[in-house]
Amino acid sequence: MKLLVTGGAGFIGSAVVRLAVARGHVVVNVDALTYAACLDNVAEVAQSPLYAFEHADIRDREAMDRILAAHAPDAIMHLAAESHVDRSIDGPGTFIDTNVTGTYTLLEAARAWWTKAGKPEGFRFHHISTDEVFGTLGETGLFTEETPYAPNSPYSASKAASDHLVRAWHETYGLPTVLTNCSNNYGPFHFPEKLIPVVILNALAGRPIPVYGKGENVRDWLYVEDHADALLLVVEKGEIGRSYNIGGNNERRNIDLVRTICALLDERRPDAAPHDRLITFVEDRPGHDLRYAIDASRIRDELGWSPSVTVEEGLARTVDWYLANEDWWRALQARKGVGQRLGKAG
Ligand SMILES: NC(=O)c1ccc[n+]([C@@H]2O[C@H](COP(=O)([O-])OP(=O)(O)OC[C@H]3O[C@@H](n4cnc5c(N)ncnc54)[C@H](O)[C@@H]3O)[C@@H](O)[C@H]2O)c1
Repeated sequence: MKLLVTGGAGFIGSAVVRLAVARGHVVVNVDALTYAACLDNVAEVAQSPLYAFEHADIRDREAMDRILAAHAPDAIMHLAAESHVDRSIDGPGTFIDTNVTGTYTLLEAARAWWTKAGKPEGFRFHHISTDEVFGTLGETGLFTEETPYAPNSPYSASKAASDHLVRAWHETYGLPTVLTNCSNNYGPFHFPEKLIPVVILNALAGRPIPVYGKGENVRDWLYVEDHADALLLVVEKGEIGRSYNIGGNNERRNIDLVRTICALLDERRPDAAPHDRLITFVEDRPGHDLRYAIDASRIRDELGWSPSVTVEEGLARTVDWYLANEDWWRALQARKGVGQRLGKAG
């Protein structure tokens, strides 16, 4: 397939780009290169004849029209977004601009191009979203595709809004859409402001490891390469107009996750053990959802997908990757806001 991937210089988008090229797909990576982007994430495919890069903003309608006309993709995989909850608390405007208005602009460009091309049957607009749109769970229960939306942060509200637009563009205009809502990802190339890289890098530096509240928040962790695999399956085989939840079947309390990472570092850097002495509980994030957990039975039963990596194995691979790729993360640590406490609100 020829895939137009938005946000392909980010964390998950780059995993999709690398896997898609490895599987022989033609990939056009459309990215505005915000603070969260890094072209090194796609360096291993940059010279491939299957790969092209377009430096463009999804809010720029003319650019989207030009790129669609030039590349005529079989599918759009839309991952470009502002993605950090803490930044959305400090500055929600960019999240509305990119996640809501940007998705609207891309949908309109896609609809115009698809209509002009004679509404090709195989075309897909795949919108990549998060389980955070469903709000929070108590100690039991799982998010299904029928769970009502109840977002609690500016980030999740902006993603929920974009999901609704995608649904409406299918129902109203017949645009062939598919939607996925995924749990927390982790793995190589994870930007160093997110929980898992923060834990690894602070522990390596001997700095306090900040844990919000009491560390009791539960997330369902998915290794990013498993997510990329699920996304390629959905764009190829997903049913038009349908949404699929994607999860790792790996629920962990934050504090337990942090202790696991510390134990992995103890094995690899015994001189600095025990790393968990660095754990420091800090003021919680406002509106911090207690628990997310995914019922991924639809994608398993209908499309035959399930995660291949356990959280123990994935965390070990991730820790080893950060140990081996210091040049990558050191450069990103210099970017604005990275390493600072964000999102405490007023
Ligand atoms: N990280 C997670 O755990 C997770 C889980 C589920 C879903 N998601 C969703 O997956 C997608 C990718 O997440 P991520 O963690 O890889 O994000 P990321 O922040 O690492 O990457 C986002 C990418 O989008 C690009 N981008 C931002 N604004 C843009 C714009 N206006 N025009 C063009 N490009 C723009 C950035 O330059 C960056 O390369 C997002 O839509 C996010 O909501 C993320």
